[in-house]
Amino acid sequence: MDRRQFLSLIGSGLCGCAATASYRGRLEGDRVRVPLDELPASFAEKGYALVRAVGLDDPILIHRTGTGDFRALSARCTHLGCQVRPARNGLICPCHGSSFSWEGEVLRGPAQKALPRYPVELRAGILAIIVN
Ligand code: FES
Repeated sequence: MDRRQFLSLIGSGLCGCAATASYRGRLEGDRVRVPLDELPASFAEKGYALVRAVGLDDPILIHRTGTGDFRALSARCTHLGCQVRPARNGLICPCHGSSFSWEGEVLRGPAQKALPRYPVELRAGILAIIVN
């Protein structure tokens, strides 16, 4: 277990946050394809889900905005690499308390850098997250 995994594990215990529903996607070339109708049921209610895929370095949080647009952000905190979680007004890191907007911008440190964002394309009910 490396430092990032350890911090993430400890952080999840300290936070007491409910786990974010996740979807196991497939990395095909430079894209992870996410059929929206295969997302966990909680996505319809909450508007976010965690996407993982073999070959993907970090999980990705997808978020449907109030206007129906989609965003995809790395779920890896830019401070020391713990996994961020959705909170009331964006995302929070359980390890040291950094918070981020759904745009990925830092709202509170110690993180200094924004969460990386990935371009997305939505066609025929399939969200493509472009990761390279
Ligand atoms: Fe996220 Fe430190 S790892 S705030």
